[in-house]
Formats: sequence, C-alpha cells, structure tokens
Amino acid sequence: MQIDIITAVPELLESPFNHSIMKRAQEKGLLTVRTLNLRKWAINKHMQIDDYQFGGGAGMVMMPEPLANAIDELQQEKKYDEIIFMTPDVVSFNQRAANALSMKENILIICGHYKGIDERIRQKYVTKEISIGDYVLSGGELAAAVVVDAIGRLIPGVLNDETSALFDSFQDNLLAPPVYTRPADFRGDKVPEILLQGDPKKVEEWRHEQSMQRTRERRPDLLDE
Ligand code: ADE
Repeated sequence: MQIDIITAVPELLESPFNHSIMKRAQEKGLLTVRTLNLRKWAINKHMQIDDYQFGGGAGMVMMPEPLANAIDELQQEKKYDEIIFMTPDVVSFNQRAANALSMKENILIICGHYKGIDERIRQKYVTKEISIGDYVLSGGELAAAVVVDAIGRLIPGVLNDETSALFDSFQDNLLAPPVYTRPADFRGDKVPEILLQGDPKKVEEWRHEQSMQRTRERRPDLLDE
C-alpha cells in the first residue's frame, strides 16, 4: 500500500511512521508513506498557500490552486483509490473504516490547516472525509498519523503474528479481554488460574466472557450495533 500525505507542515509527520510497527511495515515493503510539502506547489515566491476567506471572518483558508496542482501532478503518477480530507466535519473514524481502508492500494491524504481548504477542492477531488473525533485539532496531520497507523497495522503481513489484529478491541465490536504476563503472582495479585492451566478452549471461553463483560460495562453502545 502506498499512502501519500499532502501537508503544509511536513515536520509534524517526521516521526510517527519511523518507529515500531509502521517502520517494520515499510522495511518489509508492505507500506510506503510519502509526505509531500504543499509549499512545493505554492503560487508565488512568498510560498503562499493560504488566503483570507471571501465574505470576511477570522482565519485563513488554504487556496485551491496549490492543492489542485499538487493533486493533478500526483494523479499523473498513479490512480488513487481514495482521496481523503482530514476534517472534524464527519462522524468519527472507527475500526470498521480502518478495515475497509486497509484493503486499498493507493491513498492520498490531504491535511487541512487554518480554517480549512477551499470548498471547491472538497467538491472536485475529495472522495472521503475522515474525522478522528469530535474536537478540533490545529491541523489534519496528527489525525492523518492516527489513521495511517490504524490502517497500516492491518495490512496482511505487517503484524508478526497475523492473527493478533483479529483479537484487537473492536474487531468484532467487543473490547479486548484483560491480558497478563509474568510474574504469575505480582505483590500478592495473582493471574487468573484458568490462564495458567494450559487448556486453550477454556482460555478462549474465558477471554470471550471477559470481553463481553468489559464491553457491557464500558461500551454498551457497541453491543447495540
Ligand atoms: N482536523 C482538525 N480536527 C480534526 C479532527 N478531529 N479529525 C480529523 N481532522 C481534523
């Protein structure tokens, strides 16, 4: 999968994909993340990419021309399965949306800044809008990093134990069960006996019960879906 990200602040995306699982995914050749500085397509020598909004009001708007030129150029290289705009204006991203995006080959993500991007770019180019929650970030970059991480780890072969993503919270609309590691007795708090007995069927049943209980207590809304 190749993910291209257009941003006015590429520095914000320097680190998130260079560690841990995202780094490994790229080293294995399963994922390529490319950060593209929008200023490369700025309209003048002042590197302008934003301007005042028509009709008045505080805050700058990202101009259509640099974005359109960037997208046109990138589309000559390849066809994108989705052109995504990061915005708080839609219902929140979730595991189901991450699963669906992890099946795509080529994704372009546009990060907004200031008041947002000119509406004509949204109408003409954007195929999907993604919010990571009902709060306003100062730009789309951190949200884009969240989305890339969530979908990157689902690409087959990225996780060492491929089945492990199957047991993540939300994969079957249930929260994950509690997990334990050594020591079996930590300052008097003991690991549930069933996990030490070595009966995989009983362990599986116990985990399912724990998932159900946890979901009922913390996120009953998931059980209604
Ligand atoms: N840009 C600003 N806020 C955002 C949010 N909550 N999700 C996605 N992109 C954003």
